[in-house]
Amino acid sequence: MRQKWGSKIGIILAVAGSAVGLGNFLRFPSQAAQNGGGAFMIPYFISLFLLGIPLMWIEWAIGRYGGLFGHGTAPLIFNRLWKNRVSKYFGAIGVFGPLAIFIYYIYIESWLLGYAFYSLHGSCTHLSNQIGAVEFLRKYQGISAKDIFLVTYLFFILTFIINFTIIYKGIKGGIERLCKFALPVLFVFAIVIAIRVITLGAPVAGHPDWNISNGFGFLWNPDFSSLLNAKIWLSAAGQIFFTLSVGIGVVITYASYLSKGDDIVLSGLTASSLNEFAEVILGGSIVIPLAFAFFGLNGAQEIAQSGSFNISFVSMPLIFSKINYGMVFSFMWFFLLFLAGLTSSVSLLEPAVAFLSDDLGITRKKAVTILGALSFIICQFPVFFLARGVVDEIDFWAGSFFLVVFALAECVLFVWIFGIDKAWSEMHHGAELRIPRFYKFIIKYITPSFLIFILGFWFFQQAVPTFFLKGVARENVPYIVATRAGFALLFIIIALLVRKAHKKHLKLGQ
Ligand code: ALA
Repeated sequence: MRQKWGSKIGIILAVAGSAVGLGNFLRFPSQAAQNGGGAFMIPYFISLFLLGIPLMWIEWAIGRYGGLFGHGTAPLIFNRLWKNRVSKYFGAIGVFGPLAIFIYYIYIESWLLGYAFYSLHGSCTHLSNQIGAVEFLRKYQGISAKDIFLVTYLFFILTFIINFTIIYKGIKGGIERLCKFALPVLFVFAIVIAIRVITLGAPVAGHPDWNISNGFGFLWNPDFSSLLNAKIWLSAAGQIFFTLSVGIGVVITYASYLSKGDDIVLSGLTASSLNEFAEVILGGSIVIPLAFAFFGLNGAQEIAQSGSFNISFVSMPLIFSKINYGMVFSFMWFFLLFLAGLTSSVSLLEPAVAFLSDDLGITRKKAVTILGALSFIICQFPVFFLARGVVDEIDFWAGSFFLVVFALAECVLFVWIFGIDKAWSEMHHGAELRIPRFYKFIIKYITPSFLIFILGFWFFQQAVPTFFLKGVARENVPYIVATRAGFALLFIIIALLVRKAHKKHLKLGQ
């Protein structure tokens, strides 16, 4: 008997928990700042309506449909949608991708727990300038010195144990329980910090124009010229994928634990709306206005350009060190980020567990143990070779490129091969809300065309140079090649297991 969610609010919070993550509070502000603030927001919202929301509905529908046959992951569900020998291998991306993202995501997540600890301890809230804050981060990462790296490693182990304990406890007792606690807490913390930010005014003496309202203006004054800039479109669409957790495979798995009569239209929309509230209203009200008020327009953009980690791990502690009760706000900031990361990282683990147990017949406890041992070994790559560009490499392939490939595959399979009319009625089964009819046209034509455009453009602009290691420092090349080889091997193993699972189901006549 497959597991089920305990309540409707449980699955909504779980999907929202998967969506609300580091992407909302770290990646979004830095993407928005790098791409001109208001210029970014128009392509961002268009991508939300044409890609994010349709894909969210498609994944909920595919997942619930697959769950009725006892499948919780894409490989055998895709095979049901299209009885062709290749379809299951496209589906394999839905098991491989989340696992690959998990491998580096959990390490960054553990820094948040570490920084929450250091906020209360005072070490990262007594930093007086940017150089000191960068140096602290590099020490924490074990790059410039090893004296606190043991602490880093202990937080990594602790985060790892927390993740696997939750996943071990299953859907209702583990993930649903976590999300029912974590989401409200993180929303309250974020609202408190956002209110503190809004009431800051112009905190730097001598710079009256460096103020919170100009920070909001930077994000909300629209710039229509961006509609002609393909790079901004790519960044905006990529952000929508990452933040909503679509194109990864996790929403399919979560929805597979629903029953046939359960609503997916309103639930999917509610989960997406919670994510957008966390991203645009809360994420957008904290980091960008703060960075603007403390460092001015150029300073904020410079920090954002230097990477999404810098805006959170370097500038935020510095800013908190300058406000009253900064230690408390800093703790709240890092702890809320940790909770956001945790509800996402457990969702990244679930597809692999579901695949091993549903399709290969391994018990959940055994599946979690195997996965724990395997992923612990692979996680050592990002932990020890961060400075060699290993995290960026995995993020590019697993966190960007494959999301689009997988999204295109699921969209074409469901809408064109399974058929738009069947897909439309599948989505509406048990629905508490009807999707407006024009979305049928969007889902059939616009969403796949948009995905093909992104993929084509991405391929030429980024995938080709990345594939040939353009811009990689010579000394890092062996590490990047080893990372690729390791992940290619992981994909091959998963593909072989998918073949085995398929044969097993054929034999059983399912
Ligand atoms: N959707 C998750 C995030 O935003 C992966 O971090």
